[in-house]
Amino acid sequence: MTHKGTVTLETQRLILRRFTAYDAEAMFKNWANDAKVTKFLTWPTHSDASVSKVVIDSWLPLYEKTNHYSWAIVLKEIGEPIGSIAVVEQRDDIKMVHIGYCIGQKWWHSGYTSEALSELIRFFFEDVGVNRIESRHDPQNPNSGKVMLKCGLKYEGTMRQDDINNQGICDSVRYAILAEDYFRSK
Ligand SMILES: CC(C)(COP(=O)(O)OP(=O)(O)OC[C@H]1O[C@@H](n2cnc3c(N)ncnc32)[C@H](O)[C@@H]1OP(=O)(O)O)[C@@H](O)C(=O)NCCC(=O)NCCS
Repeated sequence: MTHKGTVTLETQRLILRRFTAYDAEAMFKNWANDAKVTKFLTWPTHSDASVSKVVIDSWLPLYEKTNHYSWAIVLKEIGEPIGSIAVVEQRDDIKMVHIGYCIGQKWWHSGYTSEALSELIRFFFEDVGVNRIESRHDPQNPNSGKVMLKCGLKYEGTMRQDDINNQGICDSVRYAILAEDYFRSK
């Protein structure tokens, strides 16, 4: 596995790039201010753009590490971030990354998260050399699982009460794709 860090990636409609100090306003207004977006996430809804600024400022030094992966999902059409997609857990010994994502409600069900996740799958298997990409969701949030299925991840099981989000302790529905699945289907 050769870590590359958060390099800029591009899809038909999206640029996936590092967050910058200038993204706080967009983060706040496009997704972080919305309790519907954070309902099944682990962080609280932001009350003000200054909170988004503090959060982004805390992320910026992390980009110096080549094993840090956290992208702003920028919609080309408007030139602003509409969400984020990141590695939230990783294990180098088994060459695994675990991905989490969120986008603003205004852009739900337009295929953007699937478009971003598909590009990350390509990047991690082809450029970084990972062997397993996994993700999970609360059973009450099934649309997240549909993104995973659409991107080729397979259902692996449901763990009982092994996760927590803003709704409290919850089951976690697990999905993953292996390098062999990815290269076989190419
Ligand atoms: C869950 C979430 C990431 C989905 O992102 P998205 O960009 O809307 O997903 P996509 O448009 O790529 O949809 C992929 C599939 O999911 C399903 N889906 C997604 N949103 C849906 C909706 N609102 N209603 C019905 N189906 C939906 C569809 O099957 C869709 O496939 P299709 O486009 O072929 O119909 C988004 O709703 C979100 O950010 N929610 C808040 C944060 C969150 O819950 N993150 C995940 C934590 S585990």
